Order: sequence, then structure tokens, then C-alpha cells
Amino acid sequence: MRKQIAAANWKMNLTLSQAETLLNEIVATPHHLGENQQAVFAVPAIYIPLALEKLANKPHVFVAAQNAHQKQSGAYTGELSASMLASIGVNHIIVGHSERREYFAESDALLAEKVDAILSIQSTPIFCCGEPLSIREAETQNAFVEAQLKNSLFHLSAEAIVKVVIAYEPIWAIGTGKTASSQQAQDIHAYIRSCFATKYGEAVANEISILYGGSVKASNAKEIFSQPDVDGGLVGGASLIATEFAAIINALS
Ligand code: 13P
Repeated sequence: MRKQIAAANWKMNLTLSQAETLLNEIVATPHHLGENQQAVFAVPAIYIPLALEKLANKPHVFVAAQNAHQKQSGAYTGELSASMLASIGVNHIIVGHSERREYFAESDALLAEKVDAILSIQSTPIFCCGEPLSIREAETQNAFVEAQLKNSLFHLSAEAIVKVVIAYEPIWAIGTGKTASSQQAQDIHAYIRSCFATKYGEAVANEISILYGGSVKASNAKEIFSQPDVDGGLVGGASLIATEFAAIINALS
């Protein structure tokens, strides 16, 4: 059975003392994770050791990185590798967030290399896809997202693809307060799953967790997560408020 995941993406926010306060509040705020559910915290890299310490020994809770380089080591000043992250206990890495695609010119081909680097050391890529507003308005979002999946993931074997978590994040819904309706989310999640089914077969497609991201908050999480092909969320703004994120975790159905 595929996992349900509530993932926090703190992006480039918070000072050390603010990060510490938020982690303390998260630990103190009641939330429930069932056997098949996970909470993942993608904190800024500099706060990873702190998050690992604060969230240690919490069942079903993982600390993640927001990015990693496509090589495992070498002369790449300023970068972090998947192996370095794994060596300190971080085995989940966000790949291809729309902000990295846009501001750091990350291409589909580069993201394929990053996915390979992460999988090669048995870590988990959280692979982001999603269309800009112009594509949604032209109603060509399915083809747009399918191309992202094909270009960065379809070289993987069936054994490898089930280890990838997908996060569908329509760019027009990120940080805008404008959420996709639960029906819009369901429609494209079902389409994404059908792409995997065509390539890898139904059984494999049904094992892949597909998260929705874009203005998820406590007030809309339950409805979005209740859709049959939505397996949780990747959450930006609302993950910076402990009570909001705890409610989002509890909304995993
Ligand atoms: P918001 O939840 O702030 O819209 O951000 C979504 C996102 O980009 C998570 O990766």
C-alpha cells in the first residue's frame, strides 16, 4: 500500500532561533501518524542537524533536504551531495521544485541526474512537477506534466520508480493562496498515475505516492487529501506554523 505523506518545505525561511522555536512547537503539538503515514521536514540545510536532534526517535518522522547536487563529491563549491546528506541521516531530498527550475535553471535532464544520484544511494527523491498559469489556462497541463515525468523519470526501472515520491505543485497555486480545487487536484493526480500505469503497469502505479502542493493549509487539507489519488501534501507557508502543520498531518486520511 502506498504511503501517505505530509511534507513540510520551509524553503529559505527562519533564523536559527526561529527554527528552534518552531521545532519545539512541532514536537509539543499533538499530531497522529498511522502505520502507513509519514511526516517529512525539508528544512534549510543549515538547520538539518538541529532538526535531526529535535525530531530524533519520532516514529514515521523524517528530516529532508530541499536540494542536492547530482554528483556525490568533488569540486562543486557551495553544493551538498546526497551521500553527504545520507551520512548524517537524511534520506529524503526534494528534487526539481519549481523555484529551483525557475531561479536556478534546473532542466529536466539535470533533474534526471539528481534522481539517479539519490536513488543510487538508496535515498528517496521527492520529485516535483507542475505547470505555470499559462499552461493551465491553455488547458494543456496534462501534456506539460507528462513531459516532465517522461524526461526526468521514465528512464528508471519499475523497481526504482516505486521509490520516488511525486509532488504535483501547480505553480499558480504556490504561495498565492489560490489552491487547486480538490477536483482539479484529483484529475491531474489520476492522470499522473495513469502515465505511470501506461509505462510500468497498474500495480506499480498504485504503489507511487503522489502529493499535492500549492497553498495547502489546515482548512483545506482534509478535502484535498480525501481525493483517491492524492496521497498527502507538500506544504510551504503553512508548514511554518506548528498548529497548522499538525492539523495538516492529522488530515492524512
Ligand atoms: P505554499 O504551501 O506556500 O503554497 O508552497 C507550496 C510549495 O511550494 C511547497 O513546496
